[in-house]
Amino acid sequence: MLGVMLVGLGAVSTTFIAGVENVRRGRHLPIGSLTQMGTIRLGKRTERRVPRIREFVPLADLSDLVFTAWDPIPDDAYTAARKAGVLEARDLEPAAPFLKGITPLSAAFDQSYVKRLQGTNVKRGKTKRDLAEQLREDIRQFKQKSGADRLVMVWCASTEVFLTPGPAHQTLAAFERAMEQNDPAIAPSMLYAWAALQEGVPFANGAPNLTVDIPALEGLADERRVPIGGKDFKTGQTMMKTVLAPAFKARMLGLAGWYSTNILGNRDGEVLDDPESFKTKEESKLGVLEYILQPELYPELYGKIYHKVRINYYPPRGDNKEGWDNIDIFGWLGYPMQIKVDFLCRDSILAAPIVLDLALFGDLAQRAGLAGIQEWLSFYFKSPHTARNLYPEHDLFIQQTKLKNTLRWLMGEAQITHLGIEYYETA
Ligand SMILES: NC(=O)c1ccc[n+]([C@@H]2O[C@H](COP(=O)([O-])OP(=O)(O)OC[C@H]3O[C@@H](n4cnc5c(N)ncnc54)[C@H](O)[C@@H]3O)[C@@H](O)[C@H]2O)c1
Repeated sequence: MLGVMLVGLGAVSTTFIAGVENVRRGRHLPIGSLTQMGTIRLGKRTERRVPRIREFVPLADLSDLVFTAWDPIPDDAYTAARKAGVLEARDLEPAAPFLKGITPLSAAFDQSYVKRLQGTNVKRGKTKRDLAEQLREDIRQFKQKSGADRLVMVWCASTEVFLTPGPAHQTLAAFERAMEQNDPAIAPSMLYAWAALQEGVPFANGAPNLTVDIPALEGLADERRVPIGGKDFKTGQTMMKTVLAPAFKARMLGLAGWYSTNILGNRDGEVLDDPESFKTKEESKLGVLEYILQPELYPELYGKIYHKVRINYYPPRGDNKEGWDNIDIFGWLGYPMQIKVDFLCRDSILAAPIVLDLALFGDLAQRAGLAGIQEWLSFYFKSPHTARNLYPEHDLFIQQTKLKNTLRWLMGEAQITHLGIEYYETA
């Protein structure tokens, strides 16, 4: 059995759990999940070997998943899902008894890191280290009570205020000292990550917070042989951006500007309405174009891009976000053109299958003996966590190739290079 520990029991987490339960009952297909719906080509095209990913690699089965979560708001998963307003009653009611059984553990929460939230279901302790030790105890107890033999943790909690890496984040000793001294450089998300790693639990970060993306915790992950990944689920607007921008670059079309704006009305939108949390998100959303377009290699095409990202909290929309993009490109002889994208998306519907895939792949990585940063999971993130000396790969299809080649490599199958010359060679 695989125990999935979610930090935060809000829109994304409850949509994920309720979705898994619906799929288990045969009420829905796991649409959007690569691990469940995806296939992988093996060998030459003429061999016609295309198994499903879940039949190719030994992933935990959905029937083997058990869940728990932490949240400063004491609502059980059913109440939280009702409040989030993502799923209709027809999908919530059949899973109601199951969801009501998931009540959140008290959170390591501090309002100075998420200004727009107030929580009552919070841990008390003299130091941040005390709180982190309580989280470790939660992990051990969940493992024991649930009967799970393996665990994974996914951060699906609110976006914290922007933090830059500092001295407290450089080594484990400095980090632990900072926890003991209640240093403001240690955010609650880092306490969860530290606790997970100390307990040998793979950790993935679905929000743009710094969290595990610091040398101190990377070192701990390597030392304890635990997989880590992050950060910020790549779902709507940024997913589109990492599809479109590589297309422009592939065809050597220039880009003058990219204006992205969003309206959303869920609690995430409310939290992001705080400028400090927004800054964390903005950094995550902005980085993408710079890396994909490589203005240093193509100064004439991408040297002067005006890139703007806005998020506006607009309650009537609830979880149904609208993301608009206005893209000013230029072509042959510099003639300008415009592209407009209007993505009427559902945030948590896009994020839930990503939580599932990250939980299953995080667990697979650990069983396969992979430890530390899992760059092959970049496919799922807006700001992929990479080794310090590398820049991240943002192109969605390169990320997909990287992921699938990693699976082939794990299973001893040949890499697919797409060279294809062998099909045309005559003896
Ligand atoms: N849905 C998407 O498409 C998407 C994409 C990328 C990232 N994200 C990120 O995923 C996260 C979750 O999104 P959501 O829509 O579910 O938000 P939400 O506000 O509905 O849920 C977040 C929950 O986290 C809880 N929380 C806050 N601080 C906590 C702490 N220290 N410990 C435990 N719980 C804590 C909150 O009380 C809340 O219930 C957000 O950070 C969001 O930015 C979502």
